[in-house]
Amino acid sequence: MGDRVLIYSRIAGTGSYLPEKVVTNADLEKLVDTTDEWIASRTGIRQRHMAAEGETTGDLAFYAATRALEAAGVKGPELDLIVLGTTTPDIIFPSTACLLQHRLGANGCAAFDVNAACSGFVYALGVADQFVRSGQAKKALVVGAETLTRMLDFGDRSTCVLFGDGAGAVVLEASEEPGIFTTRLHADGGYKHLLYNPVGVSAGFRPDEPNAGVRVLMTGNEVFKVAVKTLDRIVDETLQAAGMQESDVDWLIPHQANLRIIEATARRLKLSMERVIVTIDRHGNTSSGSVPLALDEAVRSGKVQRGQTLLLEAFGGGFTWASALLRY
Ligand code: COA
Repeated sequence: MGDRVLIYSRIAGTGSYLPEKVVTNADLEKLVDTTDEWIASRTGIRQRHMAAEGETTGDLAFYAATRALEAAGVKGPELDLIVLGTTTPDIIFPSTACLLQHRLGANGCAAFDVNAACSGFVYALGVADQFVRSGQAKKALVVGAETLTRMLDFGDRSTCVLFGDGAGAVVLEASEEPGIFTTRLHADGGYKHLLYNPVGVSAGFRPDEPNAGVRVLMTGNEVFKVAVKTLDRIVDETLQAAGMQESDVDWLIPHQANLRIIEATARRLKLSMERVIVTIDRHGNTSSGSVPLALDEAVRSGKVQRGQTLLLEAFGGGFTWASALLRY
């Protein structure tokens, strides 16, 4: 490296993993009072993947990370940072990043989880980008991995039809060329009541309550309205921060919570839906997994090409919201 200045982080490789088991809308019709037509027309979801019994977030993260490292030509021990976005860690501690670090043979490097609900991966990317830009890390692994189906109430039709399991990962490398132009991270804890899981450690495990530990509570239509407005704002902020225009963006890689939210963001960007990566029909909402899953699918299918400009964005419980504008 000599004394060359490396001021950007760039994506050297991507990877993802989906559990084998597929749950279709028709399968859910047998569990709750819902229809394929309702789910597909209101959300865009047709099926989702579900982790097998005993298969954890850490397992999904490991498979996705292995593929990303392979694509980047980087070995586990070469990593000097692992940041993992999840809201469904394997256990309370050690962090899932630490469990993953050991499986990758990267022992010794910094490793920690970021809990920003569905914005977890984009938050993790923003954190890792800062480490690379400041010279603290040269090779960083960033993961978004979730087993959201583990905390769903399969008697509650308003939430159980929305989520799925999956993981995605990227390897970042220090580079003289961009790379990531900017990342924007935000939160507003004032919205906690609209989307949360009340079961905790310090607030109590509440093991005696029915469905303890398996409850995502969401006021969906309120979340929807705030999500659309907030994502509009962050699109503008991100382009402005990078000194770019809507027309500079080749691909929108959005969080996959609802197709109608994705379409609203695309309209704001004046981007046709052909330039938007959509996986929600097959993956459902995989929370932190959704953006890196969509990115990896777009890269491996040949849609996203080196040199193109990508806008990544996410919105989730907290509320949290975040974006990244980068040249792939
Ligand atoms: N099947 C059939 N009917 C259902 C249903 C289901 N799975 N879930 C809810 N309904 C019913 C409701 O009970 C309600 O019935 P009512 O009018 O008789 O009271 C009706 O459908 C409309 O409910 P509403 O919640 O207003 O629907 P919606 O169009 O807002 O769609 C969501 C619901 C959850 C799909 C949508 O609000 C959404 O995607 N929200 C944002 C999610 C999100 O972005 N989360 C953040 C990231 S995790």
